[in-house]
Amino acid sequence: MAKILLFGSGELGKEFTIAAKRIGQTVIAVDSYPNAPAAQLADFSEVINMLDGNAMDAMIEKYKPDYIVPEIEAIRTERFYEYEKQGYTVIPSARAANFTMNRKAIRDLASKELGLKTPEYRYATSAESLKKAVEEVGMPCVVKPLMSSSGKGQSSIKTAADIEKAWNYSQAGSRGDVAEVIVEAFVNFNYEITLLTVTQRNGKTLFCPPIGHRQERGDYMESWQPAPMESAILKKAQQMAEKVTTALTGFGIWGVEFFMADDGVYFSELSPRPHDTGMVTLAKTQNFNEFELHLRAILGLPIPEITQERIGCSAVILASENSENPTYEGLEIVAASSKTDFRIFGKPASRPYRRMGVVLTYDNLDGNILEVIERAKNLASEVKVISG
Ligand SMILES: Nc1ncnc2c1ncn2[C@@H]1O[C@H](COP(=O)(O)OP(=O)(O)OP(=O)(O)O)[C@@H](O)[C@H]1O
Ligand SMILES: [Mg+2]
Repeated sequence: MAKILLFGSGELGKEFTIAAKRIGQTVIAVDSYPNAPAAQLADFSEVINMLDGNAMDAMIEKYKPDYIVPEIEAIRTERFYEYEKQGYTVIPSARAANFTMNRKAIRDLASKELGLKTPEYRYATSAESLKKAVEEVGMPCVVKPLMSSSGKGQSSIKTAADIEKAWNYSQAGSRGDVAEVIVEAFVNFNYEITLLTVTQRNGKTLFCPPIGHRQERGDYMESWQPAPMESAILKKAQQMAEKVTTALTGFGIWGVEFFMADDGVYFSELSPRPHDTGMVTLAKTQNFNEFELHLRAILGLPIPEITQERIGCSAVILASENSENPTYEGLEIVAASSKTDFRIFGKPASRPYRRMGVVLTYDNLDGNILEVIERAKNLASEVKVISG
């Protein structure tokens, strides 16, 4: 059986671990704090500073895993090249993990090398150069640290008076040692999607039905599947996803993010791993959920097809306060609703806005997606994370 080492052991890693354990694989869950969601289920767990390359090396040395599976971005992905040289398999590949952890690498690849349509963008390394960049892309625009996720350090500029503030905010929210930011023209999109894309070792690239989502403060609030859209537009997004995943190389599932606007399909960014909006697949919307697909692709097991079995929605359960002993109120209300399920991730501590669980709603394929979304949203608001 394969030994799979996870760098990052949150809710996505937890569901991945469940999928892996169901077919008898061995999982080592690594994270920066004890008792992380995946660590509660894995065969072995370890706590390290995830930005310490030497600590990562020590894990590889100790476990000699068959597969190194990053679950988060905030790790020393440059070490992955070294692991590949030593004969290890990084998922989907060192190149994919390394390029996507820095917005500059992936954006230049997508826009300049592959010619994909992206929001107009510039880079800046100081408040002064930000001012110039803003002039060039125009307002409104969005400023993001090159290394950040979940909207950290991200803000929008509507007038020149926002520039200084946006710079300072970006520096406070940046991870790692890179002070640079990307400035993007604001795309007035009609809707945005995640296109889960699966690259296989011995098979063609597959696409999940598109996932629609709504974001607040840089994190998703609800995601639903399928996102209603014209097939020609979907086809376009699929072609773009195939192009970028092929260029990044490797096998596994990818969450490719797009903005759909009147003037076309914009590639935004991608994660070379299961995507948080893809948690909607836990509502059994597909024959295999995104974690099972990732696992199959990693192990080189064939995936003959991906089929949509139901329509569904996931809505996040967020904490509102700090607690070292979070407990949950209102789950009976969720449980009493038909065609509904939920997950509580089991995170040992809460803080304001931390994602602690999801409500999952679904219906038959001929059901009404708006009703399913509304139900998920309402039920998620019934759940309160309190200090137990
Ligand atoms: N140029 C843009 N125009 C319009 N909206 C944008 C733009 N860039 C980002 N957004 C909005 O902000 C959200 C988060 O942006 P982005 O995906 O780049 O950030 P992130 O920090 O990488 O988030 P995550 O890691 O959670 O995916 C997008 O899903 C979109 O709703
Ligand atoms: Mg994103």
